[in-house]
Amino acid sequence: MGRSSKRKPLLEALEITDVAAEGKAIGRVEDRIVFVNNTVPGDVVDVQVRKKRRKFYEGYPVRFHSYSNIRTEPFCDHFGICGGCKWQALPYKKQLFYKQREVFNNLLRIGKVELPDTNPIVAAPDERFYRNKLEFTFSNKRWLTQAEVDSGEEISDNDGLGFHIPAMFDKVVDVKKCYLQDEPSNSIRLAIKEFAVENGFSFYDIRNKSGLLRTLTIRTTLLGEVMVIVIFGADDLKAREKLFSYLNIKFPNVTSWMYIINEKANDSYGDLDVYNWGGRSSIFEEMEGLKFKIGPKSFFQTNSKQAYNLYKIVRDFAALKGDEIVYDLYTGTGTIANFVAGKAKNVVGIEYVPEAIEDAVYNSKINNISNTSFFAGDIKELLTHDLLEKNGFPDVVITDPPRSGMHADVVHTLLNAGPQKIVYVSCNSATQARDINILDVRYRVTKIQPVDMFPHTHHVENVVLLERR
Ligand SMILES: C[S@@+](CC[C@H](N)C(=O)[O-])C[C@H]1O[C@@H](n2cnc3c(N)ncnc32)[C@H](O)[C@@H]1O
Repeated sequence: MGRSSKRKPLLEALEITDVAAEGKAIGRVEDRIVFVNNTVPGDVVDVQVRKKRRKFYEGYPVRFHSYSNIRTEPFCDHFGICGGCKWQALPYKKQLFYKQREVFNNLLRIGKVELPDTNPIVAAPDERFYRNKLEFTFSNKRWLTQAEVDSGEEISDNDGLGFHIPAMFDKVVDVKKCYLQDEPSNSIRLAIKEFAVENGFSFYDIRNKSGLLRTLTIRTTLLGEVMVIVIFGADDLKAREKLFSYLNIKFPNVTSWMYIINEKANDSYGDLDVYNWGGRSSIFEEMEGLKFKIGPKSFFQTNSKQAYNLYKIVRDFAALKGDEIVYDLYTGTGTIANFVAGKAKNVVGIEYVPEAIEDAVYNSKINNISNTSFFAGDIKELLTHDLLEKNGFPDVVITDPPRSGMHADVVHTLLNAGPQKIVYVSCNSATQARDINILDVRYRVTKIQPVDMFPHTHHVENVVLLERR
């Protein structure tokens, strides 16, 4: 097998045998692992290698000899080109199997601690249309399909509004229908594209850093509220008024019309003002009668229905009796803190985005919760002996860090603070396992609960209960 006609070989009739970390399908050639995009275990393919390293190859299939019998038909027309929903060819049950296994393997191999049985993964309530937030990019150089290229015809419509193609920063798939977010998301995106093209509004040129329309974010909630945020690359009042006036009439049920003007070279907008064109400047989500305000920059778990299940698991693992001091680290907009406050004596939330902390305080207020306090800053700096002394040493810590996990200083502060329980929520079980390994001197893992928030992707959330030895 394998011939090296060019420097990057073509591997013939390679059998895909498994799914490795990060959801990549793999086969093997002699002593090398081969990562192959857009395949599933059981496929037999010719693979064009595009990256060659001492221990592995990375490539893409150029010909299928046979298809795996576990395959299922991808439902999206953009499958294979767009970067999202890469696991569509795997049946959902198989996806859950690989996610559960990834969590277990990481805890075992990286954590190297004694483990209880892992609970079966909690499947997502919806396999499609489960996201409450999507961000689309405008580009004046959309990705052309193979059929368009093969047709040999001159392409007049080069504008696209959709998702970046992986590893091609200037190419965007013009999305016709996205299965990730419920209506009116698709209708709004399509209407904006059509209106912009008709009116000659320029789509952003990512290479030249110019153009009027830059990105579009749509946020929705289970209450039916919708926020639309358009980021403009230039301050063109006339065009802006024209666009929003049209949209406001076409979509009268949108709760919030927002915009940002970003004339910088990069897409980050954390430092930019957000303006309200019409409607409210925030939308609301609700869980168990508690309301949560979501502003244009606020973090909120992107799968609302499954976030509710996740929070219930956190609350079950914490098993609060009512007299505990609870710390909710990486609290975001204080959702978990407010969600468990009714069962605790006091809850302290810490988060480094100041606007999120403002939302957290606001969320306590509108829900008549008076036993929470929130602090804005880097947990590594804020979580000191002084802060613990002033606000009380924790009985229970809930921690939900970003993918990088907790800073080692934070882990050591927790070891010294010595809460009875730590409920560790993670979107990256590899870093979670690393942190658990350090905590092992004082804490043993007593419960493990993977949760699937993102069907058709390899991402998996995991909740671990650690109890003091
Ligand atoms: C996974 S989110 C947790 C969100 C929250 N628990 C929820 O369910 O809505 C992680 C949060 O940690 C915050 N964060 C990341 N690094 C931080 C740090 N060093 N100190 C404080 N907060 C941090 C991020 O801004 C983000 O809001």
